[in-house]
Amino acid sequence: MERLDKILAATGRWSRREVKELVRQGRVTVDGHLAAMPEEKADPAVCRICVDGEPVNWERFVYIMMHKPAGLLSATEDSRQKTVLDLLPTELRKRGLAPVGRLDKDTEGLLLLTDDGDLTHRLLSPKYHVDKVYFARVDGELTAADTAAFAAGLTLGDGLVCRPAGLEILTGDTCLVTLQEGKFHQVKRMLASRGKPVVYLKRLSMGSLHLDENLEKGQYRRLTEEELHALRNGTA
Ligand code: URA
Repeated sequence: MERLDKILAATGRWSRREVKELVRQGRVTVDGHLAAMPEEKADPAVCRICVDGEPVNWERFVYIMMHKPAGLLSATEDSRQKTVLDLLPTELRKRGLAPVGRLDKDTEGLLLLTDDGDLTHRLLSPKYHVDKVYFARVDGELTAADTAAFAAGLTLGDGLVCRPAGLEILTGDTCLVTLQEGKFHQVKRMLASRGKPVVYLKRLSMGSLHLDENLEKGQYRRLTEEELHALRNGTA
């Protein structure tokens, strides 16, 4: 059971203040009964909540897959620069969605945005061993020694000890990097430590979730039920 003002504000269509006004004006019903107070409690999964007679589309959490383009920050807000949230409509922005793990400004690819803090935590915590796979192009020639060093667990110049990671060479200067952690600039720092600076980076997947090839850069869509189910199961 949750407060009506919280339930209606979570749709992103009204602020809590606006919800108060809607209730006061007698425009909100719960299972056909006029709501008396915004503090009134209801179970949004069971009750039929209507505004002006229209049922309200309620979702506990929202999950968005975005194809992040280069040039945007993976932050919820920034006073000077554009963020990935700027690509979303107001309704979704108002819900308080946040990116699950950051991609650098110049990194492209899969970005999940959600207001489900519990799933976010589980996808990012190394405890749950969720693989994040990146495609990288480097300045240099990748070798089997680089793959072996990644597998053994690199120690970076600043002392950061990386967990064992995957490095699959695709061509001389391109590879797939698989990490289960996400320290600041980690892929770039790991490859730079091998003398192969990254010139292009794209995240392809996170656990079972793969970037939808039909999404152009800057486009997004909601996760399907199957995708969400698989992600949850992968971190159970
Ligand atoms: N590692 C990086 O170096 N950059 C990213 O954006 C993601 C992983």
